[in-house]
Amino acid sequence: MAEFVPVAGAEDVGEGEIRAFEVRKTKVAVAKVGGTFYAFNDACTHLQCSLAEGDLEEVTVICPCHGSEFDVRSGEVLRGPAREPVETYETRLEGGGLEIKL
Ligand code: FES
Repeated sequence: MAEFVPVAGAEDVGEGEIRAFEVRKTKVAVAKVGGTFYAFNDACTHLQCSLAEGDLEEVTVICPCHGSEFDVRSGEVLRGPAREPVETYETRLEGGGLEIKL
């Protein structure tokens, strides 16, 4: 059953940044946009490149390998070649720490 798991300190991911964390054997990317944290699976659904190594433009993450674009809020594909959305995870701040529901 999914439950919230502590991942990092709230200040570990800066505004406009993406960082990857290993959470229960899953590599999760966390982006901070407008003060809100968005968590999603780090593996691009095209050929599994790390999305945390890509660029973040507002709420869009751009895969460094072939340029697929995903909405970090929903995981939805905004631009191919990827066709499948990335999985997203709920986030919350708890006592100064960032937690992800996984
Ligand atoms: S691996 Fe991400 S676009 Fe190809």
